[in-house]
Amino acid sequence: MNNKIIFIFFLLFISCKTNKQIETPPNLAFLDTHIPNIKIGERIFNQSCITCHLYGTAGATILTDKKSWQQLLNNKKKEEIYLNVFNGFIGKGPMPKKGACTNCSDTDLLDAIEYILFMNDLSINH
Ligand code: HEC
Repeated sequence: MNNKIIFIFFLLFISCKTNKQIETPPNLAFLDTHIPNIKIGERIFNQSCITCHLYGTAGATILTDKKSWQQLLNNKKKEEIYLNVFNGFIGKGPMPKKGACTNCSDTDLLDAIEYILFMNDLSINH
């Protein structure tokens, strides 16, 4: 192998490594301790989640459908719900990774989920 090919493999190796770091699911301890910031959640909802969750586009649960959000909390653990948004999820339709909010931090994403629940008098820590 000449040096050029070795260099290309090296670049591939590095880019795979950095990608993996971005993909790593977060340590979920903050689900218990984070105090929701509903204002941040609202801003993110209006930037990202609104595309689907306002009118139920692509099979998404509608923002004001309290019964369905309550059912979600009854049926699934908060860790599962959070990771489904984080990793993307296929239910009645597809939700992209991080609900399409690619630059959202772990707590931004939680705030967006809490905003949806807050609008229905619910919380992930019900
Ligand atoms: C491209 C459309 C789309 C976008 C954008 C989107 N969602 Fe979703 N979301 C869906 C669909 C479809 C489902 C699955 C609904 C079902 O089958 O019950 C879903 C499900 C969910 C669930 C429930 C997951 C579970 O475990 O069942 C939560 C919570 C959620 N979305 C939050 C969000 C938040 C927060 C955002 C913005 C950061 C967001 N979504 C952006 C389409 C979307």
